[in-house]
Amino acid sequence: MLKILVIGGGGREHALCWALRSSPQVEKVYCAPGNAGIAEIARQLEIKPTDTKKLIEFARHEAIDLTVVGPEDPIVGGVVDTFRREKLRVFGPTAAAAQLEGSKAFAKSFMRRHNIPTAPFAVFDNAEEATRFCRESEGPLVVKADGLAAGKGVIVCETPAEAEAAVQHIMVERAFGAVGEKIVIERRLAGQELSVMAFADGRHVALMLPARDYKRALDGDRGANTGGMGAYAPAIRLDDPLLEEIERGIIQKTIDGMAEDGIPYSGVLYAGLMMTESGPKVLEFNCRFGDPETQVVLPLLKTDLVDVIGAALAGKLDMEPLEWRDEVCACVILTSKGYPGKYETGAPISGTLKTESDGLLRFHAGTSAGTGGVITAGGRVLGICSRSSTHEGAIASAYAGVERVQFKGAQFRTDIGLRPAEVHRMRRAPAERRGRF
Ligand code: AMP
Ligand code: GLY
Repeated sequence: MLKILVIGGGGREHALCWALRSSPQVEKVYCAPGNAGIAEIARQLEIKPTDTKKLIEFARHEAIDLTVVGPEDPIVGGVVDTFRREKLRVFGPTAAAAQLEGSKAFAKSFMRRHNIPTAPFAVFDNAEEATRFCRESEGPLVVKADGLAAGKGVIVCETPAEAEAAVQHIMVERAFGAVGEKIVIERRLAGQELSVMAFADGRHVALMLPARDYKRALDGDRGANTGGMGAYAPAIRLDDPLLEEIERGIIQKTIDGMAEDGIPYSGVLYAGLMMTESGPKVLEFNCRFGDPETQVVLPLLKTDLVDVIGAALAGKLDMEPLEWRDEVCACVILTSKGYPGKYETGAPISGTLKTESDGLLRFHAGTSAGTGGVITAGGRVLGICSRSSTHEGAIASAYAGVERVQFKGAQFRTDIGLRPAEVHRMRRAPAERRGRF
């Protein structure tokens, strides 16, 4: 029987703890630092995800059999390298491999070198040259800070003047700090976005069900970019030829390219794709499970997650195909008022909060145990997830679950999972169509 440590404390980690805990091979799950929902199924540890020293001490002391890392910060910072050096079993990419997420300039030049489809781009470390480039280019641009900026370092622009302002904001005003020393400017692509995650073992890949993630704060894809306001999976069917193209031309090619470059990639590779008229193109790579994609993908995984991770660590991901439930899973995120801007925490949460009850899954994100019960402790608070044999059924029951939770200032999108035609109607509807305030 295994003892497992999960690093992180959001909805993704709650889903990971839940999936790992449901394996018959697992004796106990620990989570650093966890949250109020995770506390129901795992032991919470007061250790920060970036406190590698304490994590190692704990893993040694408790004879942890496997550590799974959720967030990008510790991965990019080298937590996997340290665990490996200490001969502790850990699932995730090394710091060198995680540059695919940690440096957008690295990822873009890697893709160019290996012929992986992505938007045309240029890299700058000089604000004047970047400004001149914006002024002289035609068509809309996207300006991106090179390093990790908690999902905020990307500015999608309409006009050259907007792109110039973005350069000023990132490089001169240093809106995201030192990560803006270098920037990538790329052509803006049009199409539907798709999140594809895959397990990788350095050589082989096993694709997860593709998911659709809703990044903008408001209905109709308006408002600021967030960590994700909801998701559903599968966004395209597993037997869709498009998925084979994505596997062969993007995911496997990336793993092959990393191996060729002497930086083998093992862990979860997440490709954020734009489905353009000329085929799928990579918008970004993440070196970890997506959030909230994980909350809709893991509930559909029939194969034991411990076995999948074991196969990835043994270099044997080609041996057993993953099995999936023939269902749809949808997730609606409840956030604190003001998110992704300034928001308040500490509001008591009432209603049904149990991880698994009345047919729903509730993955907590920013929650903690207050003296009188569970209180809000973050921007994204809870993800209400539902599985159903139909798309409409999954969406409807997730929203029914949303009605059964209350806290002051709760916000959510009301259009998660609507079909494109319905979203189109939504776009023309008044901007104020919005969740509860
Ligand atoms: P990233 O963190 O690079 O994925 O960017 C965050 C979001 O910005 C993406 O999910 C897209 O919605 C948008 N984005 C990034 N790059 C582009 C691009 N080249 N064209 C259009 N939208 C983009
Ligand atoms: N859902 C986007 C991410 O995990 O980065």
